[in-house]
Amino acid sequence: MGDNTFLAGQQHWLERLGNLRNVVRQELVARQLSAHLSARPLTVLDVGAGQGTQALRLARAGHVVTAVEPDPRMRAVFTEDAAALDEEDRARVSLVDADLAGLSDATRGTAYDVVLCHGVLMYLPESRAAVAALAARLAPGGLLSIVTRNGDAMAWRPAVRHDWPAAQAMLDEQRRAAQEGRDALYRNEIGVDARADSLASLHRNLEAAGLHVDAWYGIRVASDDVPLDAATPGPEELSVLLEVEERLGSTDPYRALGTLVHVLARAPRRTP
Ligand SMILES: C[S@@+](CC[C@H](N)C(=O)[O-])C[C@H]1O[C@@H](n2cnc3c(N)ncnc32)[C@H](O)[C@@H]1O
Repeated sequence: MGDNTFLAGQQHWLERLGNLRNVVRQELVARQLSAHLSARPLTVLDVGAGQGTQALRLARAGHVVTAVEPDPRMRAVFTEDAAALDEEDRARVSLVDADLAGLSDATRGTAYDVVLCHGVLMYLPESRAAVAALAARLAPGGLLSIVTRNGDAMAWRPAVRHDWPAAQAMLDEQRRAAQEGRDALYRNEIGVDARADSLASLHRNLEAAGLHVDAWYGIRVASDDVPLDAATPGPEELSVLLEVEERLGSTDPYRALGTLVHVLARAPRRTP
């Protein structure tokens, strides 16, 4: 599935993990996901796990997690953070050197209750094959959680910032992409040329892979106009901000304006 284009922005990404935008993103992903997980320990596959924010959080919650990450530097950060887990939680995490293209071999055909793929699809040339490869790793009734750039709301961030030429350029790109029957392309704020998915094309790809969309949410609906470097506010303000973002992200019409979209889809249960 091509080179790892994320690497061009890796330094920026790693330097800003504690900033407002990533904190909101990770917290929203965790809250939205938790509503769909049962309390019993689940087997989880996190593809493109990166620094492991969600993988390690799920291990702490008692789930058994396999994290797949192709880049050695990201794996090093993951391993460093995993060292802070207590022994019992750490024993439930394994980290595998592989990418989406090598997923089947890397997981030796195992099926998982939950498969995550967060912040990865935008770095791939297309989504359909990736979604099929992720769906193939689900156990019957298993849940696929995808977080990617929302191709339906590309112009919203520059418009909210009153950067009218940038908003105009994004609207033009969306129109061209629709006319040419392709996904919208953009340069993201960590400096990588990337690709966005529309909700309709995600639905199509998930259904083509035999999954049923259970729910979708917006992420960073109203807190995305800040610069990449904006610091996280104190606990009181952060707590209200997160509550507002969580509610906006699950309510029409606001959720459609999230910079990221979080889609949860299920594999069919085995027929008796
Ligand atoms: C923006 S980071 C996201 C990390 C984490 N999933 C998160 O949401 O915080 C993107 C990650 O995807 C990984 N990646 C890029 N291309 C990939 C591919 N083809 N297969 C699997 N992972 C990939 C990168 O190495 C990087 O760690």
